[in-house]
Formats: sequence, structure tokens, C-alpha cells
Amino acid sequence: MKTLILYTTTYGYTQEIVDEMKKRIPDATTINLQKTTDVNLDAYDSVILGGAIYVGKVHKNLIDFAKTHENELLKKELRLFLCCAFEANFNEEIKTNFPAGLVDHASSIENFGGKLQVEKMNFAHKMMVKMISKTPEGSKPILTHPERIETFLR
Ligand SMILES: Cc1cc2nc3c(=O)[nH]c(=O)nc-3n(C[C@H](O)[C@H](O)[C@H](O)COP(=O)(O)O)c2cc1C
Repeated sequence: MKTLILYTTTYGYTQEIVDEMKKRIPDATTINLQKTTDVNLDAYDSVILGGAIYVGKVHKNLIDFAKTHENELLKKELRLFLCCAFEANFNEEIKTNFPAGLVDHASSIENFGGKLQVEKMNFAHKMMVKMISKTPEGSKPILTHPERIETFLR
């Protein structure tokens, strides 16, 4: 079964997760949708789709891709994921970022947590992180969850 992993990342944590998935599915193709959205799904039986959350949203290219290709994706084995630092928002963010039909169809849905790499961030993001850290959710520890890959891919 040929697998395609489609994702978006800004500071590289989602890339780390995708690289870990690729180790477990060596013949998978990986495509960063921020580099191209010109993707032919025909050759794939299985699609993994996900990305990092910024202020409640994944990258626009991922949202648009899921909407535009919904009918094709409904014919594939589908897994959805987010890299979402604030676990409490995960279920809501899945619903707001992916079409309901895809959420119903997906065989696995997972949150791989988040990583705040402040040293890599632009000024605006640094300021936002400072503000977020003062909220009740933002003051909780931010955890990575690569160990969830195993069950996600099962
Ligand atoms: C400006 C900013 C806004 C963020 N907003 C959210 C958010 O609304 N919800 C959330 O769960 N995580 C949020 N995060 C955390 C990121 O999703 C997390 O750091 C993730 O690991 C980033 O992945 P990336 O390195 O692949 O870009 C935010 C991070 C930044 C820098």
C-alpha cells in the first residue's frame, strides 16, 4: 500500500514528526504543502494529512487542500493529525481545520503535542508566545508526543 504524507510546519517540530513516520514507512512520499500544493493523489492508497496549529489554525494551504480534495480523500485510507501545543483545544481544532466528512472518515486522528522553539521565532511570534504564556492554558507545560506515532499508524 503506497502512502503519502502531506504536512505543514513553520519551525520544524511537525517536520520531526513526519521524519519519524517516514522511518516507520520508508517507501512513503512526504510533501510539504507550503512548498507545493500540486499533488496527484491517484498513486496513493493511504494519505496522512496534518500540520502545526497557529492561533487555532493550520496553514491555509492545508485547509484549502483538504477542502478541494475532499472527495478524493474519502476514497483513501486517511489519517489526520495536528501538532497542537495546547491539548485542551485539540478536539475543537480538529473540527475547525478539517472538513467534517474527512474527520468522520479518518481511521486515526492524533495530536503529537507541540514544541515552542522561541530561538527560531520571528518577532511577532515571540510576542504572541509571551502573551499566550500568561493565559491559563498557555502556562501549562508544553509536551511533545512522538510516542503516539506507533498507535496512530497501526
Ligand atoms: C504564534 C504562535 C501561536 C500558536 N498558537 C497555537 C494555538 O492556537 N494552539 C496550539 O495548540 N498551539 C499553538 N502554538 C504552538 C504550536 O502549534 C507548536 O509550537 C508547534 O509545535 C509548532 O510546530 P512547527 O514547529 O512544526 O511549526 C502556537 C505557536 C506560536 C509560535
